[in-house]
Amino acid sequence: MLTVEEMKDLQGKKVLVRVDFNVPQTAGVIRDDNRIQKALPTIQYLTSHGARVILMSHLGKIKWKEPDPAKIEAMKKANDMACVATRLGELVAPTKVVFSPETRGEGLKAKVDALKDGEILLVQNTRYEKGEEKNDPELSKEWASLADAFVMDAFGSAHRAHASTVGVPAILKAEGKQVAEGYLMQVEVKNLSRCVEVADEDRPYVAILGGFKVSDKIKVIDSLLKKCDYVLIGGAMAYTFEKAIGLNVGKSPVETEQLDYALKCLKGSNGRLLLPIDAVVTDNFDENAERAIKTVDTVVELGEGIPEGFEGVDIGPKTRAKYADIISKAKMVFWNGPMGVFEQKDFQAGTIAVCEAIKDLEGKAFSVIGGGDSASAAKQLGYKKNFSHVSTGGGASLEMIETDGHLPGVDVLR
Ligand code: 3PG
Repeated sequence: MLTVEEMKDLQGKKVLVRVDFNVPQTAGVIRDDNRIQKALPTIQYLTSHGARVILMSHLGKIKWKEPDPAKIEAMKKANDMACVATRLGELVAPTKVVFSPETRGEGLKAKVDALKDGEILLVQNTRYEKGEEKNDPELSKEWASLADAFVMDAFGSAHRAHASTVGVPAILKAEGKQVAEGYLMQVEVKNLSRCVEVADEDRPYVAILGGFKVSDKIKVIDSLLKKCDYVLIGGAMAYTFEKAIGLNVGKSPVETEQLDYALKCLKGSNGRLLLPIDAVVTDNFDENAERAIKTVDTVVELGEGIPEGFEGVDIGPKTRAKYADIISKAKMVFWNGPMGVFEQKDFQAGTIAVCEAIKDLEGKAFSVIGGGDSASAAKQLGYKKNFSHVSTGGGASLEMIETDGHLPGVDVLR
């Protein structure tokens, strides 16, 4: 695969770069610009070599199935990239950043043609185009016609086979143009590949999986069980597993349609899939809520789980100690999904315990956060720097594990 540094004759070339600027924002106020920051090395390499850089990214979701055009317009307004252009301009100053509100047509072409060497054009949200998510050939052709070369640096979107991630590079490659991966892609693929193709020296390999739904994680659980020595379960999805083995889970969320899968998984794991043995429970999330710590032992059938009217909101102290002990022996850790409702102070001890255990591994083991909520949790709780790699892609890093490293946005470059 060609890397951005291996590209030739960049001076004056129009290089279309797919970035993932899908940043958390409300009404144009960006809460975390990490994804913009991470794309800067590629952008600055290209501008410093005289390329005319055309940046494309999606932002948020536009539900095109919505029949009411006014609602589509409202979704577009809520996901306007203008705020990203402003932030990018601040980060790359004095390099000029032009924003194109047009996503295709003469207006966009005119802005591309007006670009000077070393300047940047950020195009409005690619999902303003209905054809983006369908990988529409006409749209891909039009976008590809704007560029002399393509760089993929949107790891977080590399699991999407869309026009801007797959359609455009496929066309440019077929035309014999340069198609390369950016710096962020290289770092992400290198680090996540280590969690996919597991070397002997990286064992014991421990995965920690949390989050809300089992159904979102079925493929990744299956894949991790093949690769890992232990898979530690936490978060709300633990209650589906606990219900499956006959424990009372009170009003904790349970996916009834996943109970058979959960049981099959546990039985087939030979004791490598571990569930919480105790839980912090509450009767509601109100700040003054009544709280208690209840044992929901999955090894010894106590006949007592989470009482009616209560729900689990974090792993309990015994589970924290047990998981920390397993993590302490690991040579590689992959973490996706918080252990509890970490956003609330009373329910973040489980997530903190995992972070502390991984912090203790610094210099002794390789640790990866697979993006999403666990990356936000590590940041919010002050542990981000203690991990070997924090991925910018939630869905993409999970899919990379599920598919043994095959992401459409990576495969198309090969
Ligand atoms: C992400 O935030 O995970 C990526 O930007 C992909 O976004 P999507 O799930 O809306 O495709």
